[in-house]
Amino acid sequence: MNLGQLLQHGGPHPDTDGLTIEHARGYEVCGAVCFGGMRPRAYKRLAELSGARPGDKVLDVGCGTGYLTRRMAKAVGPDGSVLGVDPSIPVIEYARRKTQEPQCAYEAGVGEALDAPDASFDVVVTCLAVHHLPEEVRPVALREMLRVLRPGGRLLVADFRPPRTRPVRHLVAATTGHVMANYQVDLLEGLIADAGFEVRGRGDVRPWLRYVQAVRPEKGSGSQAR
Ligand SMILES: C[S@@+](CC[C@H](N)C(=O)[O-])C[C@H]1O[C@@H](n2cnc3c(N)ncnc32)[C@H](O)[C@@H]1O
Repeated sequence: MNLGQLLQHGGPHPDTDGLTIEHARGYEVCGAVCFGGMRPRAYKRLAELSGARPGDKVLDVGCGTGYLTRRMAKAVGPDGSVLGVDPSIPVIEYARRKTQEPQCAYEAGVGEALDAPDASFDVVVTCLAVHHLPEEVRPVALREMLRVLRPGGRLLVADFRPPRTRPVRHLVAATTGHVMANYQVDLLEGLIADAGFEVRGRGDVRPWLRYVQAVRPEKGSGSQAR
């Protein structure tokens, strides 16, 4: 059994075919170790890249233990709000215990069927969660993110960029499994465009993240995209 399997749910989750994280504290330790001390800076950068502004209403899909959710809370300030959604009850409960920012809330839910009205958020972020979804579910989740964003609202998707060198890739496969080691992060931008977004930017955040920035067009798609 590898590290990824240890952290994931022991059996099928009743609400999703996605790979859910069951062991919140173990995930936090792995996150700290795998980012080699660069996690605070990397996630601060993601919050900047999201374009969230004071007063914005933000949704964090696949929020896990809330690491990005809390950084988004700083970006939106006391007049904004951030909702973190994840199917795993243990990570949601952990995130609630860890969070002091009153503008953060957490709910159990799945990215492929968001329990939120159309056009109800200014910004949607999601980090390291798309590769947890089965391939056929990824477009569904992205269309949901489009639906819940207001026209002109911003999307930031960040996900794992597998290492380019073969030995490090083998190490990733041995520790976290083949889904991460062979993840085709380059497909992300096309998936986001196909869901109806306008892609505005892309890049890497060291050590492991690729990000894509996009907006929901002012006209068209939205609720019809479901
Ligand atoms: C690697 S963790 C990332 C957590 C957090 N975003 C971060 O950057 O630390 C992936 C998360 O996606 C969640 N997940 C799995 N299936 C999901 C689904 N269908 N919808 C939303 N999140 C899902 C997992 O439970 C897990 O917490």
